[in-house]
Amino acid sequence: MKPRFYAVALLSAASLPVMSAPSVPVELPEYKEGQYVHQAPTLDDLMNDQALNPKLREVILKGRDLFMNTQQKRGEYVFNDMNCKSCHMGEGRMNWSGPVWPAATTLPDFRGKNQHVNSLEERIAGCFSFSMNGQPPEYGSDDMLALVAYHQWLAKGAKVYETNIGGRGFSSLGREPEQGADYDRGAQVYADNCAVCHGDDGQGQHKDGKVVFPPLWGDHSYNWGAGMARVFTAASFIKNNMPLGKPGSLTDQQAWDVALFVNSHERPQDPRYTGDAKETREKYSNFHKWTRYGTEFNGQILGQHDNTGDKPFLKPDVLRPRTFE
Ligand code: HEC
Ligand code: HEC
Repeated sequence: MKPRFYAVALLSAASLPVMSAPSVPVELPEYKEGQYVHQAPTLDDLMNDQALNPKLREVILKGRDLFMNTQQKRGEYVFNDMNCKSCHMGEGRMNWSGPVWPAATTLPDFRGKNQHVNSLEERIAGCFSFSMNGQPPEYGSDDMLALVAYHQWLAKGAKVYETNIGGRGFSSLGREPEQGADYDRGAQVYADNCAVCHGDDGQGQHKDGKVVFPPLWGDHSYNWGAGMARVFTAASFIKNNMPLGKPGSLTDQQAWDVALFVNSHERPQDPRYTGDAKETREKYSNFHKWTRYGTEFNGQILGQHDNTGDKPFLKPDVLRPRTFE
């Protein structure tokens, strides 16, 4: 087991109810035999790298700032309560927490989700369209360049085109739970371990108009097309990152149960919606077979609605099909 230490005291500024210990050891999965492991550089590395052109450093820092505080673009690119770092924790550099640098070393590549060859910009655009319930900065714009520069910087020294990467993404628990997952048990795990920060109603917490704890469902959460809406993705994210400061403390079964519970709640519409959630589920079945979207729950079809949250449109232009003919 790899211990990861959290400086939990940092968070006390937000006057959290549960933070008292200065740091807690946490349990993370082992890397598998033969996996490539990269430790992304830190902010100190960036500031101390004498070889870096100062203009480039400025652009990378701007990208980092957009990544950490994406809410500065609320109403422009972002229409929910998320920052990139809400899910890519530790500045997007932490293994087991969806480190973002692999996108810089493995793309361009074919992506199953949209069935064509994607660039790094397009991968970033994907998280804007689904996870942030928004739309990306224009390709080639200053903001997009800054984000790309930040991703590329985190990849510094990493092997290009290597895909067997330890700690990448959120899938350490596999695709399906051995014993199934249970909504009622998940509700109990939630009440015991999550509600203190994310709220009884999953709406997170705000202080002085700022998001302190992001919501897990509802209008200000990730939309139905987001990777996190897949139960297996949420289960692995939660297992290795939540409760905040105590990752690895839930059993695998608890992580599966609470992931199912969270992802059985309504959230903004999938931007690929055809007007019929069952049909959309069918059309994107390679994705939605892992979500509850378009299935019946409590007498309702999940996702059968026109609610796009705060976003005043359904589909960003960037999701239009792309061909190379
Ligand atoms: C709601 C959670 C969430 C938020 C917020 C989010 N992402 Fe992601 N991101 C994911 C998930 C889930 C994946 C897919 C991980 C996997 O494949 O298991 C992902 C993957 C990525 C990847 C590809 C990483 C790889 O291994 O190739 C990049 C790059 C990325 N996100 C960038 C961003 C950026 C930039 C933002 C902010 C604009 C952002 N993400 C916001 C959940 C999120
Ligand atoms: C001590 C407070 C705290 C507790 C307890 C906690 N979280 Fe979180 N959670 C956070 C914070 C803060 C973030 C965003 C991380 C960041 O911005 O650095 C987060 C992010 C998340 C995210 C990704 C972003 C989003 O809003 O969708 C999910 C999913 C999540 N938590 C689920 C859970 C679950 C499930 C539990 C219980 C097992 C839990 N959390 C317990 C504080 C907490």
